[in-house]
Amino acid sequence: MINDLWYKNAVIYCLSVETFMDANGDGVGDFQGLLRRLDYLHGLGVTAIWLMPFQPSPGKDDGYDVADYYGVDPRFGTLGDFVEFTHGAKQRGIRVLIDLVVNHTSDQHPWFQDARKSPDSPYRDWYVWSKKKPTNANEGMVFPGVQKTTWTRDEAAGEYYFHRFYEFQPDLNTANPRVQAEILKIMGFWIQLGVSGFRMDALPFVIGTKGADVKKPVEQYDMLRTFREFLQWRQGDSVILAEANVLPETDMDYFGHDGDRMQMMFNFQVNQHLFYALAAADTGPLVEAMEATKPRPATAQWGLFLRNHDELDLGRLKPQQREKVFAEFGPDKSMQLYDRGIRRRLAPMLDGDKRRLELAYSLMFTLPGTPVLRYGDELGMGDDLNLPERNCARTPMQWSTEPHGGFTKSSKPVSPVISGGAYGFERVNAAEQRRDPESMLNWTERVIRMRKEMPEIGWGDFTVLDTGDPAVLALRYDWRNNSVVVIHNLDGKPHEVTFGLGLDDTAPALINVLSDDHSQPNDKGEHCLLLDAYAYRWYRVGGLDYLLKRSEA
Ligand code: GLC
Repeated sequence: MINDLWYKNAVIYCLSVETFMDANGDGVGDFQGLLRRLDYLHGLGVTAIWLMPFQPSPGKDDGYDVADYYGVDPRFGTLGDFVEFTHGAKQRGIRVLIDLVVNHTSDQHPWFQDARKSPDSPYRDWYVWSKKKPTNANEGMVFPGVQKTTWTRDEAAGEYYFHRFYEFQPDLNTANPRVQAEILKIMGFWIQLGVSGFRMDALPFVIGTKGADVKKPVEQYDMLRTFREFLQWRQGDSVILAEANVLPETDMDYFGHDGDRMQMMFNFQVNQHLFYALAAADTGPLVEAMEATKPRPATAQWGLFLRNHDELDLGRLKPQQREKVFAEFGPDKSMQLYDRGIRRRLAPMLDGDKRRLELAYSLMFTLPGTPVLRYGDELGMGDDLNLPERNCARTPMQWSTEPHGGFTKSSKPVSPVISGGAYGFERVNAAEQRRDPESMLNWTERVIRMRKEMPEIGWGDFTVLDTGDPAVLALRYDWRNNSVVVIHNLDGKPHEVTFGLGLDDTAPALINVLSDDHSQPNDKGEHCLLLDAYAYRWYRVGGLDYLLKRSEA
């Protein structure tokens, strides 16, 4: 297969314009600020940026309540600034993905305002209504404990409207062909302005049937093909990265058995089991999750992440596994959220232990898929548990030791910059880490460079090598006659392991690509390694001689 599929070997960096960099000094991040920081991102080596919602919005769910799909929130700049930004990214070879939030609108969106006025409104059927309160109104809330119901009565309309999320986020009636046509129009608009695709928010809900009589939503998968076809017709190399926390049985329904639906999905299965593996030093369930999510069309790709802007959802783990992760990484109630997850950033979850952080990110960069980093991860930024719900992990980027971490010149940043303590901007910031060769920032830059030089991981197939030790994960990737092997010891104690590479030809050496620590096989062709606590190794299989022999064979 030709390697035009850029997303197969990409490194994605997710950020919110609001909290990244404020150029005009009003306390709110903006596109001009982001534009100025593009060289930083280019230096880090990321190949794509995913922007969280930046459209006009009342901002009651951090922009995931859109009031106009065709604009830029004036707090962040103008459409002109947006195009300057996509152009600046393109000049540096960085692609831009944006959030596409079309399961619902804000209740302030003119469509909803019009719809509620009269049953004759042309927009009435763009939303989901019921004359009576549906019997299941108290079921299916996404934010339990904060959200009371999924059906709320609107006085102006005199009816109940459906909202899978908060009550200010009325669900669009996505079965309506007019709504579907509008979704395509929105995609076409942003494609024209320079983006390479979309992170599609809450996809299972977008395509699920909605209505007062729907007991269990049924996914309308054909819709996915419609989105894909339109997008590829307008711009062949654009992609959709789906947010779909679903069971492995349905993965192929989302990717399409012929690879004709979503190009990418976030791997929530691996994400949750990876946290269990880190908490318990037991990689068994992680390997099962990897095997379960292995089948996918050749053109499809997983998005691999550790923490994102939401809580770490542990809903797919067995109760004892979930308890273990809570106990290790979020024991206090104040660290937990929605009865299912942990709201902290990764660095405080791992007690700021650099060995464990490197281990965790090394896994993120080498498990099957395309890594998706969150802004500030490259510095080991922390969280502010005094902020409500998910806001604790959405604080501004920490650039320097200047006031407010150099994020803004204003005395009132949109959200407080973390200050003081182990994670305050005084100790954790980009300017100082840039100068320190041992910093998290420089480590991340090095592994990103190496990850891009290992297309075997993004493109190839993986094989789990038997180490006989559940604390040690050994993977081999093969692509185009080349192989790489990555090893991780998830335990806080040293482990000695012996394993074969499972290759049928002569036993090659393992060349370490991050240090001088290479490995020669023993006379049985096996490798015997003594791994320190939390050690990780990235190897290329064989030296040049071996590779030449193999490509001739
Ligand atoms: C997705 C987003 C989340 C948002 C929700 C509603 O789950 O990741 O942040 O609140 O959708 O749009």
